[in-house]
Amino acid sequence: MADKTAQLRLDDQTIELPIVVGSEGERAVDITSLRSKTGYITMDPGYANTGSCTSRITFVDGENGVLHYRGIPIDDLADKGSFLETAYLLIYGKLPNKDQFNYFTESISRHTMLHEDFKAFYGALPKDAHPMAACSAVVGALATFYPDSLDPRDPRQVEISVHRLLAKLPTIAAYAYKHSIGQPFMYPDNRLDYVGNFLHLMFATPCEDFEVDPVVKKAIDLLLILHADHEQNCSASTVRLVGSSHVNLFAAIAAGINALWGSRHGGANQEVIEMLAAIRDEGLTASEFVERAKSSDDTSRLMGFGHRVYKNFDPRMTIIKKACFDVLEKLGVQNKLVEIAVELEEIALKDDYFVERKLYPNVDFYSGVIYNAIGTPMNMFTAMFAIGRLPGWIAQWVEMHQDKHKIYRPRQIYVGETGRRYVDIAERD
Ligand code: ACO
Repeated sequence: MADKTAQLRLDDQTIELPIVVGSEGERAVDITSLRSKTGYITMDPGYANTGSCTSRITFVDGENGVLHYRGIPIDDLADKGSFLETAYLLIYGKLPNKDQFNYFTESISRHTMLHEDFKAFYGALPKDAHPMAACSAVVGALATFYPDSLDPRDPRQVEISVHRLLAKLPTIAAYAYKHSIGQPFMYPDNRLDYVGNFLHLMFATPCEDFEVDPVVKKAIDLLLILHADHEQNCSASTVRLVGSSHVNLFAAIAAGINALWGSRHGGANQEVIEMLAAIRDEGLTASEFVERAKSSDDTSRLMGFGHRVYKNFDPRMTIIKKACFDVLEKLGVQNKLVEIAVELEEIALKDDYFVERKLYPNVDFYSGVIYNAIGTPMNMFTAMFAIGRLPGWIAQWVEMHQDKHKIYRPRQIYVGETGRRYVDIAERD
């Protein structure tokens, strides 16, 4: 991989550093030996210019709006694939053949139930507990129920944990919702496919028959595919960082769920709808809100806009926007929030502030509108993102363990006080 080197002049020294070149031509200077050779480290707050690993999972070209999973363009998968196929692709590196897919789906459908004792666990949470807090707590607690499969270096234990997690996260998320509204938990229905079963767990009750709406199921499947991985984002890096200590998969994924929850990451999908509803309820015009979002106090960003990597457009957003209009039309939903979203997008895309900073609508801008249109409660949006992102987190965790890796441990430059001594409390100012 390192066919040429970079030369770095520091003080009176010139050193050679290897250049790493990726399969899509991306280049990095490998600074692993910099400190031992020179005493210097590099500074990159927020890691905006730091490659933390090489990876064979997902390729993003933010300048050109490109996203590939294992070399396959996202549009192709969105058009022809299913979420479980995508999950298999991300985790195992290739699309499954028929036998592999049957084994995978069968195994997942056999692990959808939660231990009955979890009912008491949910019962201990307040009714208004945010589903993301409930999800991370329950996923972390899976480690207490499955001590037989916690070793990250045992392939059979890893496989069973992976299948358990993929199978159980929809149940875990749906139970958080059922708990919040006081409805009985539904048992999974293994006759249904992955998304059908999730909708059943969320919206069925024991009192009446529940039919899965095919339009809704297709839309959710698409959203899950589009959210399935996004290389070294905040939550995936969290999963790698936590996992690098060789902690079990459940603990690392629970950490990823918590990272996703924040409003600058996956939590933005909930905040987009809250923002649209606030604009509607306060009677603001889209232009007035865009002006507010430009204010320097940073408290009211235009949620669903901007991305650390995409500086042109987010290809997932283009697919979601189209799906959003399809779903609304097929379900016959008239939605004021969509009108506001379209207006905001049009204004922001022409506004110098957003143009200069290369701020474009991201994956979260229209996804919440779809979730909202199909009757998903707002505080479940980010939990649905987590269900989608789970295969990506798993793939990142598995890859890290397959590759030679060190414990993640960034350095710092200390800028605090120096040379102080302990002063007795009676003598302090
Ligand atoms: N609205 C208004 N201004 C914005 C926005 C926004 N949505 N996003 C960035 N800016 C401005 C910042 O204020 C900053 O301006 P300045 O240079 O004058 O100080 C500049 O654009 C750069 O912003 P940063 O926060 O430094 O950019 P960064 O790459 O670190 O952040 C992020 C990316 C966190 C996504 C940011 O754009 C944001 O907060 N967006 C809104 C939240 C959001 O939609 N998050 C979902 C992202 S997608 C995902 O995680 C699934």
